[in-house]
Amino acid sequence: MPENQTVYMPPQPFVDKALMREPLVYKQDALDFWEDRARELDWFEPWRKTLDWNPPFATWFAGGKLNASYNCIDRHLNTWRKNKAAIIFEGEHGDTKVYTYKDLHREVCRAANVLLRLGANKDEVVTIYMPMIPETVIAMLACTRIGVPHSVVFGGFSANALLGRINDAGSKILITCNGAYRKGRILPVIENVHAALEQENTIETVVIYNRVNRDPELVYGRDYLYTSLRANASNECPPVPMNADDPLFVLYTSGTTGKPKGVVHSTGGYLTGVAATQKYIFDLKDDDVYWCTADLGWISGHSYVAYGPLLNGATMVMYEGGPEYPDKYQWWRIIEKYGVTILYTSPTAIRNFIKWGDKYPQKHDLSSLRLLGSVGEPISPDAWEWFHRVVGGGRCPIVDTWWQTETGMIMLSPVPALTPLKPGSCTKPFPGVSAAVLNEEGNPVAPGEKGFVGVTQPWPAMLKTLYKDDERYVNTYWKQWDKPYYFAGDGATIDEDGYVWIEGRVDDVINVSGHRIGTNELESTLAQHEAVAEAACIGVAHEIKGQVPVAFLVLKEDYFPTQTLIDALHELITEQIGKFSQISEFIFTAELPKTQSGKTIRRILQNVAEGNDDFGDITTLANPDSLEDLRKYLGNKLL
Ligand code: WTA
Repeated sequence: MPENQTVYMPPQPFVDKALMREPLVYKQDALDFWEDRARELDWFEPWRKTLDWNPPFATWFAGGKLNASYNCIDRHLNTWRKNKAAIIFEGEHGDTKVYTYKDLHREVCRAANVLLRLGANKDEVVTIYMPMIPETVIAMLACTRIGVPHSVVFGGFSANALLGRINDAGSKILITCNGAYRKGRILPVIENVHAALEQENTIETVVIYNRVNRDPELVYGRDYLYTSLRANASNECPPVPMNADDPLFVLYTSGTTGKPKGVVHSTGGYLTGVAATQKYIFDLKDDDVYWCTADLGWISGHSYVAYGPLLNGATMVMYEGGPEYPDKYQWWRIIEKYGVTILYTSPTAIRNFIKWGDKYPQKHDLSSLRLLGSVGEPISPDAWEWFHRVVGGGRCPIVDTWWQTETGMIMLSPVPALTPLKPGSCTKPFPGVSAAVLNEEGNPVAPGEKGFVGVTQPWPAMLKTLYKDDERYVNTYWKQWDKPYYFAGDGATIDEDGYVWIEGRVDDVINVSGHRIGTNELESTLAQHEAVAEAACIGVAHEIKGQVPVAFLVLKEDYFPTQTLIDALHELITEQIGKFSQISEFIFTAELPKTQSGKTIRRILQNVAEGNDDFGDITTLANPDSLEDLRKYLGNKLL
């Protein structure tokens, strides 16, 4: 929390036209508020009870029936939006494609019919391993049309990570594609799939979309090209009315153990929360051109690329690649080309832009922009100011949105016409959300004190549970306090005005470029190498990526730290998890600092990794010799 806080008032022209500009909305009873929001969706049958709360299990809108794909597509077809652009896709090679709502309807129906013919049913999760192309959204919506939960696995995950997620979900059907373009290269998507499926797995059928015009090898009886399946599929497929509480999807995320958690989201609550936050936080209107740069493989892509914009009948831009290909003008070129009005991106991207220099955004006409958003990590006041000034031309409010895979929807954020902004703060809970910064006892902290983010009342898009693991759900999120409060795993402070300042994770999860990685996942992967006796990973601050992992390794006897070993360990991480979670530095030591009970004292490692030779209180240290190598390392580093 900075000492001198600048405050930006909502700009009057923005306020005059905003969708949410009545301050009383913050005073409305939460359940009434959410009922009003749920009424903005189309229901086949109304709900009987808004909320059934048996802590920590909630049922939202019990008795209600609805369908996600119907709400994202069909309900717009009876309006003028029928031929409105839903997705404007820009490929890395400058190829473009526009899907109108009518187009989406046809393609989603066809894909749903294909899935039905392949035996998809609501008791089995379909896994989707695809890049940033509209067909990924089509595949997701096709699942929801027939009531089948999907599990999208981020395309940057390796074959092994994919395999683990497939098997945990017990998927029989996998939807993927023959490759993807990334930074001018073709990513080996189908090759990863084949490598994954060489090991024991639950998959019976693989459906392969065409993205890169290459004929993939097909395993007879298992692999099918989507184009040939689509040819015989009908354009009509009735949406199946789902119970509000039926699962809509599973999304795996990192936790504090080596095994990723399958976060399960419900249909009615999730869609209500996402539709409302999308509409009111982004002030999303019919003439907006909205662009969220998140990948569909993460929750931001699910909630604010796939579901949120389509539920609201919006026009969105989708770009296949990253900000530096074919050159560093690319994003600004896209904003100018399509007249993007709302840009939602990450602090990592913003930090990169700052490093590259103002000349890139300045070369393009960005005057169409009217609102900016940030998500995934804390954004520093400096980066916020730069984003506001250089990209937003000083006129666009910025919504710094705090939320998680588990919360499904944005929880802490300004409402742009109502909330004065302070650079670096995600401000306050959205209307209808009860969240606070709490101390160890579960009471709100005083201004300036540190605490933990807790959610004190259920909210509609909350996770239902962890896939087939209610016990882990209860233990992970609901045991921090002896009150039924959700523990988010983030540390924060609050200021005199009640504004929340997020400090970052307080558990063993690190946030690399906005991607959550469990240190345990890294440690158990490194420990698989024959040379490694013990591994401990720590997140350290990084100028661009926010955080990066540093690994402390104890080698077995007769093994030595060589470049060959380091290369092999990098390779192992890439193979088991994915390149994006690569270790930034290996520190070799004869022993890890431990307590009497054998617990690694991570705090000491944290100091070492940060180049700090003050180890603080070491009275609990059982093996003082362990500090010798660490001191030597620091000595060399600090020279
Ligand atoms: C972090 C991403 C500060 C936080 C939507 C959280 C943030 C984790 C913000 C969830 C923000 C997300 N300011 N930190 N505006 N948004 N985080 O599940 O540590 O990938 O716990 O969801 O990202 O990451 P996840």
